Amino acid sequence: MPGIEDQQTIINFENVDLSFGRKKVLDALSFKIFPREIVTIAGPSGSGKSTILKLISGLLKPDSGEITIRAGRFGMAFQYGALFSSLTVRKNISLALEETTNFSKWEISGRVRESLETVKLGHTINMCPGELSGGMQKRISIARALALHPEILLYDEPSTGLDPPTAAKLEEDMLRFRDKIGLTSVVVTHDVETIKHVSDRVLILDKGHIVWQGTNEEFTNDNSPYPASFRERKYVEEIKTRQRRV
Ligand SMILES: Nc1ncnc2c1ncn2[C@@H]1O[C@H](COP(=O)(O)OP(=O)(O)O)[C@@H](O)[C@H]1O
Ligand SMILES: [Mg+2]
Repeated sequence: MPGIEDQQTIINFENVDLSFGRKKVLDALSFKIFPREIVTIAGPSGSGKSTILKLISGLLKPDSGEITIRAGRFGMAFQYGALFSSLTVRKNISLALEETTNFSKWEISGRVRESLETVKLGHTINMCPGELSGGMQKRISIARALALHPEILLYDEPSTGLDPPTAAKLEEDMLRFRDKIGLTSVVVTHDVETIKHVSDRVLILDKGHIVWQGTNEEFTNDNSPYPASFRERKYVEEIKTRQRRV
C-alpha cells in the first residue's frame, strides 16, 4: 500500500514567507495536505492561522514561496458564522449559489435542502439567524459552504464560543463530511479537544512555521515539548511570556 507521502497533495505550501509591514508572520512555512484528510493547524492566537486560510483561499498572496492547490472549489466556515441576519436560512444559502453559479431555481432549491440535511438542520429553512443558537448559526454557515459542493472546506476556530455538546455536534459533522463526501478539511484552532476529536493529522505552528507534525495518536501520546506543552495548555502562556520578554 502506498504511504501518505506517495500520494498527490491537494494543498502544498513550500517556503512561504509573509509579512505585514515589518512583522514577519510566516517564515519559510512548508506543509502538505492530502485529499480526504482532516488536518488541524494548531497555534496560539496571533500565530498566523487565519492568515494561512486566507492564503489557501487566495485572499492573500505570499511575499515569496510557492502555494499549489489542486482543487476547484473551496468552502469557508467563518469564525462568527457571517450570516445575513435579515434573511432566512434558505435565502442565506441560495444567495451564495445565485451569485456564483447559473443554476436554475429548482437546482438551487435542491442544493439548499440537501446542504441543510447534511448538517441536520432542515427544519430551520424558513427561520432567520436571530432565532437560532450560535452553534446552529455556525452549522448553517457550513451548510452554505457545502451547497457549493467544495472539494476543500476551511474552518477558522470552529469550536470558539460553542458549549461542549454543540462543539461536539459540529465536530461529528466534520467527520461525516470526510466519510460521506470525501471532503478535505483544514481546521485552524487552538482548542485541544477539537484537535483530538477531528484530526487525522496535526500541524503545530510557531515562529511562522510548522514546528511539529504527526497523527492524532502521536499528538496525544508524544511527550516531546511541542505536543506535550500544547496538550497541557501551557503553550499559550509560554508564548505570552516570551513576547513580554522581547
Ligand atoms: N491585514 C493585516 N494587517 C496587518 N497585520 C495583520 C493582518 N492580518 C493579520 N495580521 C497580524 O498577523 C499576525 C497573525 O494574524 P492571524 O493570522 O490572524 O493569527 P491567528 O489567526 O493565529 O490568531 C497577528 O499578529 C496579526 O495582528
Ligand atoms: Mg485567527
